[in-house]
Amino acid sequence: MNETIENIKTRRSIRKFRDEQISDEELKTILEAGTYAPTGRGAQSPKIVVIQNPETIKEFSAWNRSYFPNEMPEDMDPFYGGKTLLIVLANSELPTYVEDGASVLSVLVNASHAVGVASCWVHRARDEFSSKKGKALLKEWGIPESYEGIGHVVLGYADTEAPEPQPRKEDYIHYVD
Ligand SMILES: Cc1cc2nc3c(=O)[nH]c(=O)nc-3n(C[C@H](O)[C@H](O)[C@H](O)COP(=O)(O)O)c2cc1C
Repeated sequence: MNETIENIKTRRSIRKFRDEQISDEELKTILEAGTYAPTGRGAQSPKIVVIQNPETIKEFSAWNRSYFPNEMPEDMDPFYGGKTLLIVLANSELPTYVEDGASVLSVLVNASHAVGVASCWVHRARDEFSSKKGKALLKEWGIPESYEGIGHVVLGYADTEAPEPQPRKEDYIHYVD
């Protein structure tokens, strides 16, 4: 099978990571691939925020957990102990910003898998960055207030076997004459 197609099909969300940071080279490759994601009108509106400080990741984990719809145990880490946290933001002034951000997130998870780094896409970035705290962080980071959170990707080396994928639903593809 074509290597790229094989990579797309074998990528799985990983939710248990080894206590080891990924290499700078792997991170750089993943991030650069993300910047090549297609975006509406080629505007490249998204931004990828990179966090590797364990204390900061811990803080963001508690913040993310606070937006869970159902009460989540205090010891549950929505980032699963991932060693690197990426947050994709996109500029809400553009008509395609949500799609642009999702496009970048998709490339990031597939690029990670291609270099042997495990990943999981994690939600609730919109809740985070539409809050007062999120707006203050944008200001601190020098990012315009029009940016919204689209999603996170946690990265690390897998400490578990990749699960089998769910069977693909039969009516996924719909041919029309
Ligand atoms: C928009 C979106 C939001 C997601 N949010 C989460 C999340 O908050 N936590 C999580 O563990 N996985 C999350 N995932 C990962 C999905 O659960 C996962 O992709 C799906 O179960 C299929 O498994 P696979 O990625 O291994 O193929 C998210 C995926 C997408 C596309």
